[in-house]
Amino acid sequence: MEKPITAVLLGAGRRGFQSYGNYALKNKKQLKFVAVAEPIQARREKFAKLHSIPSDRCYKSWEDLLDESKLADIAFVCTQDQMHTEPTMLALEKGYHVLLEKPMAHNLKDCIKIVKKVEETGRILGVGHILRYTDFFSKIYKIIQKGLIGDIINITHRENVMWYHYAHSFIRGPWANVEKSSPMILAKCCHDLDLLYWIVGSLPKKISSFGGLMHFKPENAPEGAPNYCLDGCPAKDTCLYYAPRIYIDIIPMIQIMDKSENKLLKILSRLRKNHANFLTYISKILTPFKELRYYKDFPVYYLYTGQKEDYSDEAKAKILKKSPYGRCVYHCDNDVVDHQVVNIEFENGVTASLTMHGFSEREGRTLRIDGSRATIIGEYHVSGEKIIFYDHFSGKEKLIYKKKLRMKAREYDQGDFELVEVFIKSLISKEMAEPLTNAKASLESHLMAFAAHKSRLNNSIIDMKKFRKQAEIL
Ligand SMILES: NC(=O)c1ccc[n+]([C@@H]2O[C@H](COP(=O)([O-])OP(=O)(O)OC[C@H]3O[C@@H](n4cnc5c(N)ncnc54)[C@H](O)[C@@H]3O)[C@@H](O)[C@H]2O)c1
Repeated sequence: MEKPITAVLLGAGRRGFQSYGNYALKNKKQLKFVAVAEPIQARREKFAKLHSIPSDRCYKSWEDLLDESKLADIAFVCTQDQMHTEPTMLALEKGYHVLLEKPMAHNLKDCIKIVKKVEETGRILGVGHILRYTDFFSKIYKIIQKGLIGDIINITHRENVMWYHYAHSFIRGPWANVEKSSPMILAKCCHDLDLLYWIVGSLPKKISSFGGLMHFKPENAPEGAPNYCLDGCPAKDTCLYYAPRIYIDIIPMIQIMDKSENKLLKILSRLRKNHANFLTYISKILTPFKELRYYKDFPVYYLYTGQKEDYSDEAKAKILKKSPYGRCVYHCDNDVVDHQVVNIEFENGVTASLTMHGFSEREGRTLRIDGSRATIIGEYHVSGEKIIFYDHFSGKEKLIYKKKLRMKAREYDQGDFELVEVFIKSLISKEMAEPLTNAKASLESHLMAFAAHKSRLNNSIIDMKKFRKQAEIL
């Protein structure tokens, strides 16, 4: 029997622990984690236990792990945005192939440094552009490749970040501040820019962008709102962003389940919303209800940074009194945009626009692609996915793809698993398996994001040829 490919994990947070860790647990013949680096002891120990990693292969930081000689085939770099460059550079030097979470790095200089190091060492670098690997976007890509819509003329693409997700990640969370993380157009939409580049199949020629931070400022705070919601906020019954609504009553999760076409999820959402006490009681007898009553996944997971994982309402309230996630959304150190539009003209003449914002009623991407023979309209929501094909000649429309929300949709995201599978395949065959791209092609979406950021700040149109030249990419 073939031995599994081995890996080390740098950063056992949500992505490392759940997405890639779960892949290894479910595909033991393909992938085995043999070492982990994670400063939070509880996470490190939990990961080590699940993956049977001996204690002498558990490290408190990526530096300690990479100080050792090479331990495995792949290094998964799953630390936060500003901690990607150094571990990636060192891992490549040590002889690891690297699966690097997006964005490659938080500034363009470092992204380019990584690309050069990949080219110099000849290793394979995969970037966490997971949307390419989903059934939804693969389907769209194949339709276009087959020429079914004729020539693409224009794409309108939206990244609709649901209101609570924006507040969680981009106001209270790790991606709130450009200096501490990266511009939101990079952090959130290098995925979307990568999709546009992939689908259009041409380099971007010109980019312009507008947007800013409009709503989440102190002047929009309810009167008398304290810095922490649980410090007696007078707007607790009316503020959409009152932290206990999000993390204790899990209202956004209930809304997502309620919007799903899955009838069981609708019933469960109502049970959680209206009968939490009854759910507390039956979850003691029927364990499947426990997950719903004591919901642990995104965004609640982020409340726990080492303390005992007690998901009771009382424990969460205690955490929220001091946690960054308990802060008033109008009194944070956020400065990333809450809405931005990007216009792109590609070298083959196709035009595209991307809208990113943090005020959506539901989470997910929506797009329309207008071609010379047909139009595709797609919805890629967490609560369900569908693609409709409109043929201009016959005038007919057809639902060509549909997927309902699954109970475990967030935990076992199909794109994550597919990315790891393709990456392993590429390692074994020693050549890039589709749709994995080489480092330079992965860089393109980052170049587009930095160009959009620059255009927005400088009120200018970015000539991408000049931009690449300045970045020494040509
Ligand atoms: N591909 C995607 O769709 C996607 C989605 C979300 C996040 N991300 C990216 O994945 C990365 C990780 O995000 P996350 O949500 O898992 O964050 P996270 O905060 O949950 O995980 C990061 C982990 O790194 C650990 N860490 C900190 N210092 C370390 C060190 N010196 N050595 C080793 N580990 C260290 C932290 O303790 C934490 O557990 C980010 O760059 C993020 O932008 C990608």
